Amino acid sequence: MNILAIESSCDETAAAVITAERKILSSVVLSQDEVHAPFGGVVPELASRQHLRSIGYIVAESLQRASLSTGDIDAFAVTQGPGLIGSLLVGLSFAKGLAYYYRKPLLGIDHLEAHMEAAFLENPDIHFPVLALLVSGGHTSLFLLKKRLRFKLLGRTRDDAAGEALDKIAKFLDLGYPGGPVIERLSAGGDSEKFAFALPRMKDGSLDFSFSGLKTAALRWIGETKMSNRHPELPDFLASFEAAVVRALLENLAEAVGRFRPVSLILCGGVARNKRLRTGFDELARASCLNAYIPAPQFCTDNAAMVAALAAERLRGKKKPPLSLDLDAYPRFSCARE
Ligand code: KG4
Ligand code: ZN
Repeated sequence: MNILAIESSCDETAAAVITAERKILSSVVLSQDEVHAPFGGVVPELASRQHLRSIGYIVAESLQRASLSTGDIDAFAVTQGPGLIGSLLVGLSFAKGLAYYYRKPLLGIDHLEAHMEAAFLENPDIHFPVLALLVSGGHTSLFLLKKRLRFKLLGRTRDDAAGEALDKIAKFLDLGYPGGPVIERLSAGGDSEKFAFALPRMKDGSLDFSFSGLKTAALRWIGETKMSNRHPELPDFLASFEAAVVRALLENLAEAVGRFRPVSLILCGGVARNKRLRTGFDELARASCLNAYIPAPQFCTDNAAMVAALAAERLRGKKKPPLSLDLDAYPRFSCARE
């Protein structure tokens, strides 16, 4: 069985083909970074227009690289949400058209669940219970997974996502877009203890995250030190800010480990490409004697292989998947499955 998946929730147009045994036959990702870079962030209207331009070509390319034609596809999958509504609708409508024409099932996939699924792509035998920390440009969330395809939201950001905070500070200093990788590059060799950042604390004992306080503190430092993209202490400043974001993420994860006693940890989402975060995550897992899984970098940022993999998992053992096209896009996360 071959599954073709489409992902267009934000600013990557992606398509992938995978077999029922989860062998990736192709995974094509077209980034829109160049379109959004002049604005220092994703412009929703430009994103959906760019998806419209690229989607046909990207799907064709994914089929060609898999050496298949559309008629060889047994099921289609598409990201339903959360994400930018216009961007989601482009992928969803395109996938509906394919499924309708070829009379094949279409599965709607949750973007956040797909990010977690990326960890299972290379490690199908992860032991449960699992705590998953999902860190991206749009989301920062902590999930508890008790078994396959079952997950509960434990905490989420109350304001900015971690990646968004990195992107905004990079934009403010005119460093380029997306900010996360630029900050990682420019902070190399910097002293991460030069600038002190107090970490946010939730007074109600929740496992929610907050990054707006760190962002405000960073803006204050920028004002006080006249920080700029040519300032000699820029690497120290960026290293300190990045380290504070990482500490905020990992302190919450450590708290959740104490409360929920998982067997394994997953780190996923675009910011999971970050070396400082990956290292800290591995150290935390080792200190707590837990298994740790991080997807390969190309499966951390948005891609369609993770969407296809989740569809394959959902179809496993099912004789006759539904042929319904009754799927709607949703902009916000809404579907924890316990
Ligand atoms: O998962 P993703 O591709 O899209 C969303 O679902 O949001 O994540 C994109 C985010 C951006 O904020 C980007 O700055 C961040 O991931 N990112 C990184 C790195 N690579 C991407 N942040 C820190 N270090 C990186 N190496
Ligand atoms: Zn994402």
